[in-house]
Amino acid sequence: MIRFERVNKIYDKTKHLALSDVSLDICVGDFVFIVGKSGAGKSTMIKMILKELDPTEGRIFIEDVDITKLKKREIPFYRRKLGIVFQDYRLLTDKTVYENVAYAMEIIEKTHKDIKVKVPEVLNMVGLTHRMNYYPEQLSGGEQQRVSIARAIVNDPKIIICDEPTGNLDPRTSLGIMKLLKAINDRGTTIIMATHDRDIVDMMQARVITLHGGKVVSDKKGGYDCEATYI
Ligand SMILES: Nc1ncnc2c1ncn2[C@@H]1O[C@H](COP(=O)(O)OP(=O)(O)O)[C@@H](O)[C@H]1O
Ligand SMILES: [Mg+2]
Repeated sequence: MIRFERVNKIYDKTKHLALSDVSLDICVGDFVFIVGKSGAGKSTMIKMILKELDPTEGRIFIEDVDITKLKKREIPFYRRKLGIVFQDYRLLTDKTVYENVAYAMEIIEKTHKDIKVKVPEVLNMVGLTHRMNYYPEQLSGGEQQRVSIARAIVNDPKIIICDEPTGNLDPRTSLGIMKLLKAINDRGTTIIMATHDRDIVDMMQARVITLHGGKVVSDKKGGYDCEATYI
Protein backbone atom coordinates (compact mmCIF):
# COMPACT_ATOMS: atom_id res chain seq x y z
CA MET A 1 0.00 0.00 0.00
CA ILE A 2 2.93 2.32 0.74
CA ARG A 3 6.10 1.61 -1.17
CA PHE A 4 9.44 3.39 -1.15
CA GLU A 5 11.50 2.36 -4.17
CA ARG A 6 15.21 3.19 -3.99
CA VAL A 7 14.56 6.60 -2.50
CA ASN A 8 17.37 9.12 -2.06
CA LYS A 9 16.98 12.59 -0.65
CA ILE A 10 19.70 15.19 -0.97
CA TYR A 11 18.83 18.62 0.45
CA ASP A 12 19.66 21.17 -2.24
CA LYS A 13 21.26 23.88 -0.14
CA THR A 14 23.52 21.75 2.03
CA LYS A 15 23.97 18.78 -0.36
CA HIS A 16 23.26 16.64 2.71
CA LEU A 17 22.25 13.06 1.89
CA ALA A 18 19.32 12.68 4.31
CA LEU A 19 17.96 9.40 2.92
CA SER A 20 20.01 6.85 1.05
CA ASP A 21 18.60 4.05 -1.09
CA VAL A 22 15.50 3.43 1.03
CA SER A 23 13.20 0.67 -0.22
CA LEU A 24 10.32 -0.67 1.82
CA ASP A 25 6.70 -1.78 1.75
CA ILE A 26 4.05 -0.98 4.34
CA CYS A 27 0.80 -2.96 4.18
CA VAL A 28 -2.79 -1.94 4.89
CA GLY A 29 -3.48 -2.06 8.62
CA ASP A 30 0.18 -2.11 9.70
CA PHE A 31 1.47 -0.27 12.75
CA VAL A 32 4.98 0.82 11.87
CA PHE A 33 7.56 2.72 13.86
CA ILE A 34 10.29 4.65 12.12
CA VAL A 35 13.06 4.96 14.69
CA GLY A 36 16.58 6.34 14.82
CA LYS A 37 18.59 9.07 16.49
CA SER A 38 18.02 12.72 15.85
CA GLY A 39 19.17 13.45 12.29
CA ALA A 40 18.66 9.85 11.11
CA GLY A 41 16.14 10.93 8.45
CA LYS A 42 12.79 10.12 10.10
CA SER A 43 11.12 13.48 9.47
CA THR A 44 12.48 13.54 5.94
CA MET A 45 10.72 10.23 5.29
CA ILE A 46 7.49 11.47 6.87
CA LYS A 47 7.60 14.71 4.84
CA MET A 48 7.95 12.72 1.65
CA ILE A 49 4.84 10.67 2.47
CA LEU A 50 3.00 13.94 3.13
CA LYS A 51 4.38 15.23 -0.16
CA GLU A 52 5.94 18.23 1.53
CA LEU A 53 9.20 17.05 -0.01
CA ASP A 54 10.01 15.05 -3.12
CA PRO A 55 12.78 12.48 -3.36
CA THR A 56 15.88 13.41 -5.30
CA GLU A 57 15.80 9.91 -6.79
CA GLY A 58 13.42 6.99 -6.54
CA ARG A 59 9.67 6.65 -6.35
CA ILE A 60 7.01 6.55 -3.65
CA PHE A 61 3.72 4.74 -4.23
CA ILE A 62 0.65 5.16 -2.09
CA GLU A 63 -2.12 2.76 -3.12
CA ASP A 64 -0.41 2.20 -6.48
CA VAL A 65 -0.19 5.92 -7.24
CA ASP A 66 3.31 7.30 -7.73
CA ILE A 67 3.02 10.42 -5.57
CA THR A 68 6.27 11.86 -6.90
CA LYS A 69 4.31 12.46 -10.12
CA LEU A 70 1.28 14.18 -8.57
CA LYS A 71 0.46 17.61 -9.95
CA LYS A 72 0.26 20.54 -7.56
CA ARG A 73 -3.52 20.77 -7.82
CA GLU A 74 -3.82 17.04 -7.00
CA ILE A 75 -1.91 17.29 -3.71
CA PRO A 76 -4.78 18.56 -1.47
CA PHE A 77 -6.93 15.63 -2.66
CA TYR A 78 -4.11 13.18 -2.06
CA ARG A 79 -3.62 14.51 1.50
CA ARG A 80 -7.24 13.70 2.35
CA LYS A 81 -6.18 10.08 2.53
CA LEU A 82 -3.89 10.99 5.42
CA GLY A 83 -4.36 12.02 9.04
CA ILE A 84 -1.38 13.89 10.45
CA VAL A 85 -0.18 14.26 14.06
CA PHE A 86 2.84 16.37 15.04
CA GLN A 87 4.88 16.75 18.21
CA ASP A 88 3.66 20.31 18.74
CA TYR A 89 -0.09 19.58 18.19
CA ARG A 90 -0.61 22.53 15.80
CA LEU A 91 -4.10 23.41 17.05
CA LEU A 92 -5.85 26.65 16.20
CA THR A 93 -5.57 28.69 19.38
CA ASP A 94 -8.65 30.85 18.72
CA LYS A 95 -10.94 27.84 18.28
CA THR A 96 -12.35 25.51 20.92
CA VAL A 97 -11.68 21.77 20.98
CA TYR A 98 -14.97 21.16 19.16
CA GLU A 99 -14.24 23.88 16.59
CA ASN A 100 -10.71 22.60 15.94
CA VAL A 101 -12.03 19.17 15.03
CA ALA A 102 -15.06 20.54 13.16
CA TYR A 103 -12.77 22.77 11.10
CA ALA A 104 -11.06 19.72 9.56
CA MET A 105 -14.48 18.69 8.23
CA GLU A 106 -15.51 22.19 7.18
CA ILE A 107 -12.49 22.64 4.91
CA ILE A 108 -13.46 19.57 2.91
CA GLU A 109 -17.03 20.82 2.76
CA LYS A 110 -18.76 18.24 4.90
CA THR A 111 -22.35 19.16 5.80
CA HIS A 112 -23.33 20.71 9.15
CA LYS A 113 -25.38 17.63 9.81
CA ASP A 114 -22.38 15.31 9.34
CA ILE A 115 -20.19 17.57 11.47
CA LYS A 116 -22.69 17.61 14.34
CA VAL A 117 -22.77 13.82 14.40
CA LYS A 118 -19.11 13.06 13.78
CA VAL A 119 -17.26 15.56 16.00
CA PRO A 120 -18.87 14.43 19.30
CA GLU A 121 -18.26 10.83 18.24
CA VAL A 122 -14.48 11.28 17.79
CA LEU A 123 -14.18 13.48 20.89
CA ASN A 124 -15.78 10.66 22.82
CA MET A 125 -13.32 8.21 21.33
CA VAL A 126 -10.31 10.27 22.47
CA GLY A 127 -11.91 10.87 25.89
CA LEU A 128 -12.45 14.61 25.57
CA THR A 129 -16.21 15.06 25.61
CA HIS A 130 -15.90 17.05 28.84
CA ARG A 131 -13.36 19.42 27.26
CA MET A 132 -15.36 20.17 24.11
CA ASN A 133 -15.76 23.90 24.81
CA TYR A 134 -12.25 24.51 26.15
CA TYR A 135 -9.55 26.38 24.22
CA PRO A 136 -6.18 24.67 23.57
CA GLU A 137 -4.36 26.84 26.14
CA GLN A 138 -6.74 25.53 28.81
CA LEU A 139 -5.67 21.93 28.17
CA SER A 140 -2.71 19.79 29.26
CA GLY A 141 -0.21 18.62 26.64
CA GLY A 142 -1.74 15.14 26.57
CA GLU A 143 -5.21 16.59 26.07
CA GLN A 144 -3.98 18.82 23.25
CA GLN A 145 -2.43 15.82 21.55
CA ARG A 146 -5.76 13.98 21.88
CA VAL A 147 -7.47 16.88 20.12
CA SER A 148 -4.92 16.67 17.33
CA ILE A 149 -5.56 12.91 17.05
CA ALA A 150 -9.34 13.54 16.96
CA ARG A 151 -8.75 16.03 14.16
CA ALA A 152 -6.54 13.51 12.33
CA ILE A 153 -9.17 10.74 12.41
CA VAL A 154 -12.36 12.75 11.94
CA ASN A 155 -12.41 12.35 8.15
CA ASP A 156 -11.67 8.59 8.38
CA PRO A 157 -8.26 8.60 6.66
CA LYS A 158 -6.77 5.26 5.66
CA ILE A 159 -3.37 6.23 6.98
CA ILE A 160 -2.27 8.19 10.07
CA ILE A 161 1.20 9.70 10.00
CA CYS A 162 2.72 10.80 13.32
CA ASP A 163 6.03 12.61 13.74
CA GLU A 164 7.22 12.33 17.37
CA PRO A 165 3.64 12.54 18.77
CA THR A 166 4.85 11.90 22.31
CA GLY A 167 7.92 14.13 22.05
CA ASN A 168 6.57 16.76 24.46
CA LEU A 169 4.81 14.40 26.85
CA ASP A 170 5.79 12.58 30.04
CA PRO A 171 5.98 8.74 29.95
CA ARG A 172 2.58 8.17 31.56
CA THR A 173 0.77 10.54 29.20
CA SER A 174 2.72 9.08 26.28
CA LEU A 175 1.42 5.63 27.17
CA GLY A 176 -2.17 6.92 26.98
CA ILE A 177 -1.48 8.38 23.55
CA MET A 178 0.02 5.08 22.38
CA LYS A 179 -3.02 3.15 23.59
CA LEU A 180 -5.23 5.53 21.67
CA LEU A 181 -3.17 5.09 18.49
CA LYS A 182 -3.30 1.32 18.98
CA ALA A 183 -7.10 1.45 19.31
CA ILE A 184 -7.28 3.42 16.05
CA ASN A 185 -4.98 0.86 14.39
CA ASP A 186 -7.21 -1.97 15.66
CA ARG A 187 -10.08 -0.45 13.68
CA GLY A 188 -8.03 -0.96 10.51
CA THR A 189 -6.20 2.33 10.05
CA THR A 190 -2.56 2.08 8.99
CA ILE A 191 -0.29 3.99 11.38
CA ILE A 192 3.23 5.20 10.69
CA MET A 193 4.95 6.83 13.63
CA ALA A 194 8.41 8.39 13.73
CA THR A 195 9.97 8.50 17.18
CA HIS A 196 13.36 8.49 18.86
CA ASP A 197 11.82 7.13 22.08
CA ARG A 198 12.97 3.51 22.37
CA ASP A 199 10.91 2.85 25.53
CA ILE A 200 7.69 3.49 23.67
CA VAL A 201 8.70 1.29 20.77
CA ASP A 202 9.74 -1.56 23.06
CA MET A 203 6.37 -1.72 24.80
CA MET A 204 4.38 -2.05 21.57
CA GLN A 205 3.88 -5.05 19.32
CA ALA A 206 4.70 -3.41 16.04
CA ARG A 207 7.05 -3.36 13.12
CA VAL A 208 10.16 -1.27 13.70
CA ILE A 209 12.15 0.24 10.84
CA THR A 210 15.43 1.70 12.07
CA LEU A 211 17.20 4.47 10.19
CA HIS A 212 20.81 5.43 10.73
CA GLY A 213 22.45 8.15 8.69
CA GLY A 214 19.57 8.00 6.20
CA LYS A 215 19.82 4.25 5.61
CA VAL A 216 17.46 1.50 6.75
CA VAL A 217 19.67 -0.57 9.06
CA SER A 218 16.98 -2.93 10.36
CA ASP A 219 13.34 -3.79 9.81
CA LYS A 220 11.81 -6.00 12.48
CA LYS A 221 8.46 -7.28 13.50
CA GLY A 222 8.84 -7.33 17.25
CA GLY A 223 8.33 -5.88 20.68
CA TYR A 224 5.89 -7.27 23.16
CA ASP A 225 2.31 -6.48 23.96
CA CYS A 226 1.63 -3.10 25.53
CA GLU A 227 -1.55 -4.25 27.30
CA ALA A 228 0.09 -7.35 28.73
CA THR A 229 2.93 -5.32 30.18
CA TYR A 230 1.04 -2.44 31.72
CA ILE A 231 -2.24 -3.78 33.06
N1 LIG B 1 15.69 21.55 5.14
C1 LIG B 1 16.86 20.93 5.32
N2 LIG B 1 17.96 21.36 4.69
C2 LIG B 1 19.14 20.73 4.84
N3 LIG B 1 19.33 19.64 5.63
C3 LIG B 1 18.26 19.18 6.28
C4 LIG B 1 16.97 19.79 6.18
N4 LIG B 1 16.11 19.09 6.94
C5 LIG B 1 16.82 18.11 7.51
N5 LIG B 1 18.11 18.16 7.12
C6 LIG B 1 19.18 17.22 7.53
O1 LIG B 1 18.82 15.91 7.10
C7 LIG B 1 19.13 14.96 8.10
C8 LIG B 1 17.87 14.20 8.50
O2 LIG B 1 16.98 15.11 9.16
P1 LIG B 1 15.56 14.67 9.70
O3 LIG B 1 14.87 13.91 8.64
O4 LIG B 1 14.91 15.88 10.24
O5 LIG B 1 15.98 13.68 10.86
P2 LIG B 1 15.18 13.13 12.14
O6 LIG B 1 13.72 13.47 11.96
O7 LIG B 1 15.45 11.67 12.15
O8 LIG B 1 15.77 13.81 13.32
C9 LIG B 1 19.77 15.73 9.25
O9 LIG B 1 21.17 15.64 9.13
C10 LIG B 1 19.31 17.15 9.02
O10 LIG B 1 20.24 18.08 9.51
MG1 LIG C 1 12.40 14.53 13.17
